[in-house]
Amino acid sequence: MNIDGQAWRTIGLEPGGRSVWVIDQTKLPHQFQTLTLSTCAEAAEAIRTMVVRGAPLIGVTGAYGLMLALQVDPADAALAAAFDQLNATRPTAVNLRWALERVRDRVRPLPPEQRAAAAREEAGLIAEEDVAMCAAIGDHGLEIFQRLAAARPKERQGMPFQVLTHCNAGWLATVDWGTALAPIYKAHRAGLNIHVWVDETRPRNQGASLTAYELGREGVPHTVIVDNAGGHLMQHGEVDAVIVGTDRTTRRGDVCNKIGTYLKALAAYDNGVPFYVALPASTIDWSLDDGVAEIPIEARSAEEVTHIQGRVVEGAAAGSLVPVQLTPDGSEGFNPAFDVTPARLVTALITDRGVAEASEDGLRGLYGPS
Ligand code: MRU
Repeated sequence: MNIDGQAWRTIGLEPGGRSVWVIDQTKLPHQFQTLTLSTCAEAAEAIRTMVVRGAPLIGVTGAYGLMLALQVDPADAALAAAFDQLNATRPTAVNLRWALERVRDRVRPLPPEQRAAAAREEAGLIAEEDVAMCAAIGDHGLEIFQRLAAARPKERQGMPFQVLTHCNAGWLATVDWGTALAPIYKAHRAGLNIHVWVDETRPRNQGASLTAYELGREGVPHTVIVDNAGGHLMQHGEVDAVIVGTDRTTRRGDVCNKIGTYLKALAAYDNGVPFYVALPASTIDWSLDDGVAEIPIEARSAEEVTHIQGRVVEGAAAGSLVPVQLTPDGSEGFNPAFDVTPARLVTALITDRGVAEASEDGLRGLYGPS
C-alpha cells in the first residue's frame, strides 16, 4: 500500500534477517514510526499492546516471534515456551494459533541448528501467502461491488457507491491489501466511484485512526462517523453495502469481529443492506461451530474505555500524543474487544477462494471436505 508515494508492508525482516521491523500502530495516524523486534518477548509485547494488531498481522508477527526465540535457543523446551508466550497474548484471533502451529510443526522434526532458519522461511511464506490471499479477496469483492453498483436504481447510478466498514481490516491489519478494505482499494483503482463510511470503532478507534489513515493515503473518499450512526444512515438509504473482517470464523459461518460488528449486522438485516465478511483461509476455525458459545472473547483493560488517546493541538505540548480521562473518578469500565455475528445475518463470505454462503456447506464448497 502507499504512504506518500512509497510502497509499504506492515512487517518485514531487518537487513541480515535476524530481527523484524513493524509499523508502530499505537502512534498512527499522527506519527509514522517503525520499531525493531529483536526477541520473542518483544514480539509478544508488540502483539499484546497492539503495536501490531489485526488477525492476519498478529499471526505473521507470532510466526516471526518463534524465529526470534529459536535464534536464542532452538531446543524443544524453548520452542514450547515461546509458543505459549506468543499464543497467550491475544485469545480471539485464530490466525495467531494457526501461524504458530504452522511454524512449530515445520521446525519440530528438524535438528536444532536448522530450526531458526526454517522458522524464518516459514514466517516469510505465511507473510507472502497472506498478501496473495488478501489480493484475491479484493478481486472477488470487487466483482460484488461492481454488480451491486450497476444494479442500483437509475436515479442513484451517478452517486458514489456507499460502503460502511467497522474497525480496521485494511493493510495495517494484514501484511498488505487488507481483508475488508481490499475490495474497496481494488474498486477505487478500477475507477468505481466509491465512498466509505468509517465507524470510529470505540474504544480504541481503529476506524478513526487507522482505516481513515489508510483510505486517505490511497485517496479513497471517506467520512468518519460515530459508531452509532450506521443504523441511521442505513434507514436513509445511505449505505449500499457493509463489509467487515473477522478474527475467527466458525465452520458454520459465524464470524467474530471487533465489538459493535453484531449491531451493524442487525441494522443491515433490518434495512435490507447486504452485509459481507471478508476473510482469508487462516481465519477459519474448523474445530468450532457455534461462535457465540465457543469463541473466546478477549476482555481488554477498562482503561481503554475510561481514557482516550489523542494529539495535543495547542500550547507547548502541541503535537504530542496524550491520554485523557473521559469518565468520572471511580466509574468502572468493561471492555469486551469482540462480538459474534451469527451466520444468518451474513449475506456472504468473501474469501481468498471466492464467495460463499455463510454456512458449513458454503465453506466446504470452497475449502473441501474435512
Ligand atoms: O483488536 P484489533 O484491532 O486487532 O481488531 C481487528 C479487527 O477486529 C479486524 O476487523 C480483524 O482483525 C479483521 S481481519 C483484517
